[in-house]
Formats: sequence, structure tokens, C-alpha cells
Amino acid sequence: MYRKFLLILLILFVFSGCAKKSDVIKAGVAGPMTGDQAKMGMDFRNAVTVAVEEWNEKGGILGKKIELIIGDDQRDPKQAVAVANKFLNQDVIGVIGHFNSSCSIPASDIYNRAGIPMITPASTNPQLTDRGYRGVFRVCGRDDQQGNVAAQFVTSKLKVKKIAIIHDKTTYGQGLADEFKKAIGSSAEVVYYGGIVQGDKDFKTVLTVIKTKQPELIFFGGIYPEGGLLVKQAREIGLKTPFMSGDGVIDPKFIEIAGAKDSEGTYLTFSPDPNNIPTAKAFIENYQKKFGELGPYSIYAYDAINIMLKAIESAGATDGKVIIDKLHSMEFSGALGKIKFDNKGDVTIAPYVVWITKGGKFVEYWKP
Ligand code: ALA
Repeated sequence: MYRKFLLILLILFVFSGCAKKSDVIKAGVAGPMTGDQAKMGMDFRNAVTVAVEEWNEKGGILGKKIELIIGDDQRDPKQAVAVANKFLNQDVIGVIGHFNSSCSIPASDIYNRAGIPMITPASTNPQLTDRGYRGVFRVCGRDDQQGNVAAQFVTSKLKVKKIAIIHDKTTYGQGLADEFKKAIGSSAEVVYYGGIVQGDKDFKTVLTVIKTKQPELIFFGGIYPEGGLLVKQAREIGLKTPFMSGDGVIDPKFIEIAGAKDSEGTYLTFSPDPNNIPTAKAFIENYQKKFGELGPYSIYAYDAINIMLKAIESAGATDGKVIIDKLHSMEFSGALGKIKFDNKGDVTIAPYVVWITKGGKFVEYWKP
């Protein structure tokens, strides 16, 4: 009787396992879905949803439907690790994410150990791909490239001689600030260098110190919630110095927080306008119909999931190692154009330009 019971249990276990594995193919999407950077996670989720709907309408992949598993890392490295472990328990075959480098880097340790691929649409810190994890990829550029373009702009176009540098003490924010500082070298004097705390709301003390140093430019390494408040509060204390920042700030939320008037004239490094890329047209129209305006990284998230799915399709399997080999060897045609990864998992082409905030909008302003 007891043995019979065990046998039934075993049969149930085997069958439920098979059913779980064969029903769908699960892909993880991770980023800050709640909290002050939730807009970035939502941009990922929306863009990836557009892609997955397109694939599922055509029958899915390897004869199965694709299911998205959403992971909210709340821009917190510890949460990112929890999300990564949760993904593994749910048998995801690959991950699109995370947004923040400070989340992507610790989460990638987990994905690497499990042998599943990860493609981040947005994490730009060099360390992410410099550690030699074969399954870690990014479709965006790197902060050594971004910091260099920012410095070229400052030295050749603005020609300022006194700069204040603020960062948010995160891997990305401090990393970008340091790349910028390194690339500036002796072309200008750094009259202030210091960190603020992410999530803080009042930066008037540090801005007052900076005001006494009379910089001609303030460079900020960080994300839009703090970027917006810094610009707004600088103007409130009568500090009129132009601001410059990077990809973490170029979202309409920055203008919303700083206000159209105070954000006017802020310089931001980012990739060129996708509205001028012919291959991006269909995605932009489709996304806008469903979710409204594109976020800065929507198109990157869309390309990232499509690349992952094309690699799976070409591999004809969901085994991590085979997918990773395909990601390394294939060339992909995305909404952004041709994408090919180098040995490290970085894209072979990552152009950066300088944008300016004008009349409550971002417009392309300068190219190196
Ligand atoms: N590029 C930003 C980062 O790496 C979003 O964290």
C-alpha cells in the first residue's frame, strides 16, 4: 500500500515536472518596477511586451509560447540578487536586465553561475563585461566611451576651465563621473568632486559649497530623480551654472522634476535619436500605439529580447551554453540596426552624442 502510494507520488512528480518544462518558454525581465526609478523598469517591461506579443502572434518559439517573468529589483543590489535567484527557481532561460549597473553586476554573478544568458539594455559600467563572464551581454555602450565623449564636448566645444563633479556614489554614477574626470585630464580644473546619497531630497548644502567655487560647468553622474532635484535646487539658490549628465538623466521625468525652465540648457550624453533610424520606425509606431512615448531605453530592451529569442530560435534549444554560443557568433538586425557582440559581450558599435534640453524637450546638439 505504502509502495503504491510512493509510486503514485513519483508519477505525479514526474508529470508535473514535464508539464512545467514543456508548456512555455520563460524569459525574465528585470529592473526597477517600483520606486523612484520605476519609469525605467516600466520602459523595459513595455518594450519587451511589444516584442513577445509579436513573437507569440506568429506562434511563439520552438513551438511554445513565450512567457515573461517580471522581476522588480527596486534599483537595490540586494533585491537584484533576490530577483536573480527567483528567476532561477522559475526556470527562466535568459534575462533582459537589469537597468542599474549596481544591480546588473551582482545579479550577473548568479546568472553566470547558473549558465544562463543575460542581456542588459542599459547598464553601462565597464566592469559588467570586463569580468569575463561569457553569458553577459549589453546592447548599450560603456561609460568609458560615454565619459570620453562628454569630456571631448566640454574641452572642444564648451571650452570651460573650472568644473564641479557630483556623483550618486553608485557603481554607475561614480563610475561615469570618474571616466569623465579621467578624460578631462589637465584640460580643466576640477574645483569640486563629491558624492550625494541616492534617495535624498535636499541638496542645497552641497550646492551652496559648489557655488562658492564658481565652476563654469557642473557634471553629475547619476539618475534623473537626483539629477532633476539638483538642477532645480541649484537655480533656487541662484547657482546658474550649466549642468551636464549622462544616459541616466535623459528621460522626460528629469524635465518634470527640474521644471522646463530650470532644465533648459542641460547637456546630456546619450546615443543618437532613434527617430532618425529607418529600421526603428515600425517599433516606434507600434510602441507608441500601445504605451505612448518611448523611454530612453525602450528600443534597447526591444532589441535585447529579440536578440535573445533569435539566438534561441537559431540554437533550436533552450540550453544556456548553446544560446550563449549563438549570441557570440550571430549578427543581429534590430530596430537599432545591425548588432554584433565582441568577445566581452559589448556591442561593436556604440555611438554617443550630446543632447541639450530645450523648451521642455531633448534635442540632439553635438557629435564628436
Ligand atoms: N547606464 C546606467 C547604469 O549603468 C543606467 O546604471
